[in-house]
Amino acid sequence: MEKRQELYAGKAKSVYATDDPDLLVLHFRDDTSAFDGERMESLARKGMVNNRFNAFIMERLQAAGIPTHFVKRLSDTESLVKKLEMIPVECVVRNLAAGGLVRRLGVEEGKELVPPTFELFLKNDALHDPMINESLAETFGWATPEQLAEMKALTFRVNEVLKQLFADGGLLLVDYKLEFGLFKGQIVLGDEFSPDGCRLWDAETRNKMDKDRFRQGLGGVIEAYEEVGRRIGIGFD
Ligand code: ADP
Ligand code: CDP
Repeated sequence: MEKRQELYAGKAKSVYATDDPDLLVLHFRDDTSAFDGERMESLARKGMVNNRFNAFIMERLQAAGIPTHFVKRLSDTESLVKKLEMIPVECVVRNLAAGGLVRRLGVEEGKELVPPTFELFLKNDALHDPMINESLAETFGWATPEQLAEMKALTFRVNEVLKQLFADGGLLLVDYKLEFGLFKGQIVLGDEFSPDGCRLWDAETRNKMDKDRFRQGLGGVIEAYEEVGRRIGIGFD
């Protein structure tokens, strides 16, 4: 496999073509963004930590029967993935109230959500990723009802696998965002799963161990990501 030209540079990752039209290289950079790219910073080791974290999680999900784009980790900061036609809809499941849900509905942070909630957002930084629903997604052609049903079912299956995995490490999986795409007509989990796109709290102290440390200026961002990784069995050396 040969890495070719850069196709896209996002806020945290760069995407490269390869000599195989079905495969891409994802390069996890040290760049960190918050508030739809309004705040950007470089955090040493972040690309390496998130690349390894994502590889570990994607392998677990694949082993649990969830189709993912992940092929293999190529280096400290690069992974080989299947090239998807991305669906511009973000799927969010929440087990505990935090972030946008607290701001929007005024519920208490940390309230247990039974059953867990499912929300859709349009992936569009300029519009600040507005909340959407199935009707809007169908009408505007972002995803078909069948694709949305599949994405929802897969997002909840991910919850079952990962809630347990993190619980075994003494962590609460508060919420997370997933992105899906199409590979030869099949819905496949794409992008990444890392502490950048989910919330993880220590089960006892409820200390935040995810990107909220960056958003809220709490410091120790990458140290917290590494601690989460160590607790679930990821080695970073
Ligand atoms: P953003 O675009 O939100 O700034 P990133 O910096 O993470 O995000 O950039 C990675 C980009 O690559 C995202 O737009 C994501 O949707 C896209 N992407 C992730 N996985 C794949 C894939 N398998 N095939 C095609 N595009 C992908
Ligand atoms: O992050 P924020 O409080 O603005 O929004 P949220 O709706 O509470 O986010 C729910 C979960 O999805 C959190 O774990 C976010 O980190 C994640 N998310 C993300 O990774 N990317 C987005 N564009 C939006 C949310």
